[in-house]
Amino acid sequence: MNFLEERIAKDGIVKEGNVLKVDSFLNHQMDTELFNAMGEEWKKRFEGKNITKILTIEASGIGIACVATQKFQVPVVFANKSKSINIEGEVYTAEVESFTHKNKNQVIVSKKFLGEEDHVLLIDDFLANGCALQGLIQICNAAGATVEGIGIAIEKGFQKGGTTIRNLGYQLESLAIVESMNAETGEVFFREN
Ligand code: G4P
Repeated sequence: MNFLEERIAKDGIVKEGNVLKVDSFLNHQMDTELFNAMGEEWKKRFEGKNITKILTIEASGIGIACVATQKFQVPVVFANKSKSINIEGEVYTAEVESFTHKNKNQVIVSKKFLGEEDHVLLIDDFLANGCALQGLIQICNAAGATVEGIGIAIEKGFQKGGTTIRNLGYQLESLAIVESMNAETGEVFFREN
């Protein structure tokens, strides 16, 4: 097990319905030392890539991206989730559907902060069905920016997001891939790297 898998095994809580709660270290209380190690690992895995910007999505991606970028030393931009668009023309938009929350959000990024000169690393905490990532990819495409890679903390390997994104040809680096979980025993099983 790597450092993130060990932490999930120690502090993650398996809930009914294939939900993994990691709010004690990842997406509510945040262990920034852990984020730092995640940044280091992504830096290694994306070695040689010319990354000019990190793009994430509110809310939980922001903390991770901000710490991780210290290894990349590039600006972090986060996509806003918004129910209404009233600044059309000045922003890139994409519609993101959340299966977990059963709602739809418009995600927006100002045209000022993403352009065709950018080489982007996408970062997020979870990859489940991949809707959030597809929205971010759509925004990069609209901007003419190049997606150099995607860094995810926890991929739920039994949901379709990872396969979809890899099939699109992106370098997707998930630091922990959960293959299955048992809500009765609390066990989490990871994909072997
Ligand atoms: P997708 O973006 O990959 O399609 O994921 P999905 O719609 O299924 O998930 C919606 C939200 O739920 C996402 O957060 C995602 O990170 C989160 N999520 C999915 N599975 C789990 C899980 O097992 N445990 C936890 N803790 N979160 C999960 P979000 O709506 O973007 O919320 P946030 O970033 O504001 O927290």
